[in-house]
Amino acid sequence: MSGTGSGTGSGSNRFLRACRREEVDRPPVWIMRQAGRYLPEYRDIRTRAGDFLTMCRSPEIAAEVTLQPIRRFGFDAAIVFSDILTPLVPAGIELTFNPGPHIDNPVREPADLDRLRFPEPWSGTEFLSETLARVRAELTDDTALIGFSGAPWTLATYMVEGATSKSFTRAKAFAHHHPEVFDGFVDRVADAMAAYLRSQVEHGAQAVQVFDSWLGALGAEDARRWALRPARRLLESIADLGVPRIYFANGGAHLLHDMRDMPCEVIGLDWRADLSMATRALPAHALQGNLDPGVLMGPDDEIRDRTLAMLARAPRRGYIANLGHGITPDVPVRAVATFVETIQSYRYE
Ligand code: CP3
Repeated sequence: MSGTGSGTGSGSNRFLRACRREEVDRPPVWIMRQAGRYLPEYRDIRTRAGDFLTMCRSPEIAAEVTLQPIRRFGFDAAIVFSDILTPLVPAGIELTFNPGPHIDNPVREPADLDRLRFPEPWSGTEFLSETLARVRAELTDDTALIGFSGAPWTLATYMVEGATSKSFTRAKAFAHHHPEVFDGFVDRVADAMAAYLRSQVEHGAQAVQVFDSWLGALGAEDARRWALRPARRLLESIADLGVPRIYFANGGAHLLHDMRDMPCEVIGLDWRADLSMATRALPAHALQGNLDPGVLMGPDDEIRDRTLAMLARAPRRGYIANLGHGITPDVPVRAVATFVETIQSYRYE
């Protein structure tokens, strides 16, 4: 029985088995941002629903959109439809999307942290709990349901910058002017996200992924202090849930050795990382990734060759096929089908 949540025993579920480095017939596959604008059926609902945040807050729409890529491609895992920034709203962050995120009341200096209040116990994302329950009810045991959050550093950059940034100078200014305050800030975010992920698992998430999308913005020394340390705190505090934890270390190829003892079952690699090198550097973890999403802009033969080359470099046990970052809206559906079918027709010796 692979059933719900608090998983001892991964049953027949290929994704959960691979997270725990158990034997599988072929690598499981899913894609970061698999529910999104590259799918015509997503664009359809998006046009009718209007605003992206409205979609996230409507369990019926969010559940439908979560299931769209499962129906089309037969992925081994579904990732619940939401955004890493939605759990900041209950803390008082004023968030809009257009289409990128915008925060009206960013955290620019220490005093701004006083008005940031994460709910304790966790509340304010009941819509997500309902979406998870609805999706879980529609999935068979063969498809796992993934919950997620942002990592403390990545969420802190959004709260300070107020939007996606190229240089992260505001976040870095805060951290370097007030290093101890910044330590406390990312720790608070870690504790809040632990409570948030806990509530997702209670409502049906069978694995969780922590997105450290902007890990690569920090050099090794600062990354250890302001990204890896609070991410560890977050991952450690949900160990008792017993579900696989995935840490997506985007731009973290310079930190492979620092992640050797990361308290998680799976390390997600971005497309810049060398998969064979990572396999040697992280012998205790399952690995996930990492085809360059840009390869999906090429012809089918090239997609097939590059996907098979990726599988050849991946560890034989404990491997989950994925892209090395979120799929972009301009990728042709045909290219995704080629990528997925190449993995689905592959068999381990
Ligand atoms: O993976 C999935 O299918 C689940 C849903 C999901 C979304 N965002 C939906 C979304 C997930 C897991 C995320 C995570 C997320 N959000 C990250 C981490 C992943 C990564 O890319 O590193 C980050 C950095 C964000 C913040 C964010 N949200 C940005 C920068 C943007 C705008 C850029 C863009 O792609 O439009 C969003 C909006 C967003 N989140 C959309 C979707 C489907 C587009 C909304 C729309 O216009 O329909």
